[in-house]
Amino acid sequence: MALSVVIMAAGKGTRMRSARPKVLHTLGGRPLLGHVVATAEALAPARSILVTGHGAEAVEAAFAGNTRVFVRQMPQLGTGHAVQQAVPALPDDGITLVLNGDVPLIRAATLRALVEACGGTRLALLTVDLANPFGYGRIVRAPAAGDADGIGAVQAIVEEKDATPIQRQITEIYTGILAAPTKQLKAWLARLTNQNAQGEYYLTDVIAMAVKEKIAVQPLIAPRISEVLGVNDPAQLAELEAVWRARCARELLLAGVTLADPARLDVRGSVTHGTDVFIDVNVVLEGKVVLGDRVRVGAGCVIRNSEIGADTEVFQYCVIDGALIGPGCNVGPFARFRPAATLGSGVHIGNFVEVKNSQLGAGSKANHLAYLGDARLGERVNIGAGTIVANYDGANKHTTVIEDDVHTGSNSVLVAPITVGAGATIGAGSTVTRAVPAGKLTVARARQATVEGWRRPVKNKK
Ligand code: UD1
Ligand code: CA
Repeated sequence: MALSVVIMAAGKGTRMRSARPKVLHTLGGRPLLGHVVATAEALAPARSILVTGHGAEAVEAAFAGNTRVFVRQMPQLGTGHAVQQAVPALPDDGITLVLNGDVPLIRAATLRALVEACGGTRLALLTVDLANPFGYGRIVRAPAAGDADGIGAVQAIVEEKDATPIQRQITEIYTGILAAPTKQLKAWLARLTNQNAQGEYYLTDVIAMAVKEKIAVQPLIAPRISEVLGVNDPAQLAELEAVWRARCARELLLAGVTLADPARLDVRGSVTHGTDVFIDVNVVLEGKVVLGDRVRVGAGCVIRNSEIGADTEVFQYCVIDGALIGPGCNVGPFARFRPAATLGSGVHIGNFVEVKNSQLGAGSKANHLAYLGDARLGERVNIGAGTIVANYDGANKHTTVIEDDVHTGSNSVLVAPITVGAGATIGAGSTVTRAVPAGKLTVARARQATVEGWRRPVKNKK
């Protein structure tokens, strides 16, 4: 049966106290709405309809996609009104699944179960029992007597502000997620009114309509509370971030990765890894990260969109972005890799070395305080401490070629564009601006001289 998904994402999110639309705030490095959209699309719906309102342009720009339709809700007159906006985009029959754009951790398996509970004929509601149900819509059930499972059939959902004191005692709440036969849902939506405490069109009023029409209402209890928690303020966002962190860490642990502390790893993207990988504390992995067999990542590293080869050790506090690091390398502590840094096997990059858009051949080393930008290094090159590749003339970037077995002395400057021939040695403190011949020592600095009779200046008397 054709499945349509409606995701409500028009609300303002006042309590976030932010200029950014709530659903664009990120969790695990991805917008809240991105989690919901991805989970919904795992069910392969015929279409996803996103209801936008506050910050509609930004939200639509972030989520344009083939099977996605945007409908705008202006002004926002309640959840029922939100789904009404989607009606023209809904087919005549099939199943409609309604989701909240700010409930990010819902799982596909739970949604599948809800769609199954609907089956195209029933109104299926996702509910959960909360110790503190304040603020939520309460699930009102008929008296239990005679009911097979001991709990009565669902009669209605009553919002906090409309509930009687007795109804407020109910701890079973509506999560904001339901699946309904599209045809009936459309008919119910057309009959919603805003005669309630908030003067809003409540989607939840369709439950009582279904009961009246003898359409079965099928509650389904969410397997975990964290799946149905919404984000209303930054504190709740931080709580869900912790849930997400634990979820990602657990997946890695069960896949054989050793984590020094699962609570101190942040995954904001996807991690592919080999066996016997070790990750120390306070590491952030962003975007697409690939870690080969036996890779070790030291404390405090940030690795984004990078691939690290087998047996490479990344020491503490490295920032690695867009790099391809070969096998058997040693990098850090305190090394920085910027996009298109490409290291062959067995390369050593030490502390306070920055590598940008440069290739380093097998066995090359830059162990201390260096900048390599737009450079192509051969194999077994040794970059002395403090070597700078001056790639930028103030207007354009130029390339530096350093052939196999070159040694650069400490504090040398290689002004690009320049080629340093194989096996050349550059004397410490040299600034080279022309081609450096292979196999020879080149020195380019003032010769050391001692000035006889020179005296240090002394302070003038006042
Ligand atoms: C709603 C439910 C309540 C449930 C709770 C779960 C109704 C009337 N009440 O409460 O029973 O327990 O969710 O969190 O449905 N939105 C729009 N347009 C609007 C209003 C809301 O798109 O006009 C979107 C919001 O952006 C949000 C979602 O709908 O993603 C839920 O809105 P929210 O205001 O949080 O719902 P509540 O009224 O708190
Ligand atoms: Ca809410």
